[in-house]
Amino acid sequence: MLIKQAPDIAPSEITDYQLYLNRRSFLIGMAALALAPTVPTAAAAPPAGAPLPASRSERYTVDDPLTSFENITTYNNFWEFGSNKDDPSRLAYLLKPRPWTIQIDGHVARPRRYDIEELLRLFPLEERVYRLRCVEGWSMVIPWIGYPLASLIKRVEPTSKARFVEFTTLHDPTQFPGQRKGLFNLSSLDWPYVEGLRLDEALHPLALLTFGLYGQVLPNQDGAPVRIVLPWKYGFKSAKSIVRIRFVSEQPKTTWEKAAPNEYGFYSNVNPAVDHPRWSQGTERRIGEFRRRKTLMFNGYADQVASLYAGMDLQRNF
Ligand code: MTE
Repeated sequence: MLIKQAPDIAPSEITDYQLYLNRRSFLIGMAALALAPTVPTAAAAPPAGAPLPASRSERYTVDDPLTSFENITTYNNFWEFGSNKDDPSRLAYLLKPRPWTIQIDGHVARPRRYDIEELLRLFPLEERVYRLRCVEGWSMVIPWIGYPLASLIKRVEPTSKARFVEFTTLHDPTQFPGQRKGLFNLSSLDWPYVEGLRLDEALHPLALLTFGLYGQVLPNQDGAPVRIVLPWKYGFKSAKSIVRIRFVSEQPKTTWEKAAPNEYGFYSNVNPAVDHPRWSQGTERRIGEFRRRKTLMFNGYADQVASLYAGMDLQRNF
C-alpha cells in the first residue's frame, strides 16, 4: 500500500446477483447432499467454503453490480501474507480459523473471551451489499454476512471511560509469513495490525462484524474467521482476522498511522476532496470495470454518516 501502486488486474466479469443467488442455493444444496452419506458428492464441484445462511438486508444494501467472487478472493490486501495482491490467496491455507477466540476487554462492564462459534450465533446474520473503497484507488461491491458491531458492543456494556475501540489482528508468524522478520521483510509493518474507531463510529448501524461473504464463511484471505467492515472508510480501517476488541479512553495508535502519519489518518473517511499526498482520491477504478468513476463523499454513505463528523475539519482530521 505504501510502497507501490496497485498493478492493474485482468478485467473479469461482474457477477449478476441472480446468478449468485442461484449459485448460493446450489452450494447450500451441495452441503446438504454432502451430509447425506448415501448420496454421492460431486467430485467436480468447485471448492467452496461452508455455507453461511443469512437474511438479506434491504436497508443496508446498495444496487451496484457485485464484484465477482473470484476478484474478491484473489485481489486482496492482507499484509500478514505479503504485499502483493495475490499473496493472500496463495498463502491463505496457512491460516487456521478454528479454533479461534476473541478477547473483549478494557472499559466494559462485561469483559469476556468469546469462542468464535458462540460469537457467530449471538445475533441473527444479515447479508449486506456494501461498497469497499481502498485507499489505493480501487473499489469493489461485496455481499458481506454479519451483524451490527453495535449489537456486540451493547452486550458487553462499555463504561463511561470507553471513548474509543481498538481492534487487533492475530499475531502469529507461523500462520502469517508476512509477520516473519527477515531480510525480505524490510518494508513490513509493526505487528500486530491494529485499527481503531471512536465509540460512536463503532456503534453506527453500518459498522458490520463480519463472518462471511457471498453466502459462505469468510475465505481466509478476506479475514477469516471474523473482521469488521466499515463501508464509509478506506478499506484499511476494516481489520481482518480479529482476536481482540478493547475499549479504551485514548485514541488508539493504528498500524498505518504509525507507518506513515502524513498519509494515513485515524479517521480515513473516504473523501474525494482530500488527496493522498502521492495520488488523487477523486476517482476510483471499480474492479471489473474499465472506466474510472468518481469517488463519492463517505463512499456514498454521506446521508447516513456525515452527522458523526459535524463541525470537524475533515482536511485536518483525514
Ligand atoms: N487487515 C489486516 N489485518 N491486514 C491488512 O493488511 N488490509 C486492509 C483491510 N484489512 C489489511 C486488513 C486493506 S488495505 C483493505 S483495502 C481491506 O482489508 C481489503 O479487504 P479485502 O481483501 O477483503 O477486499
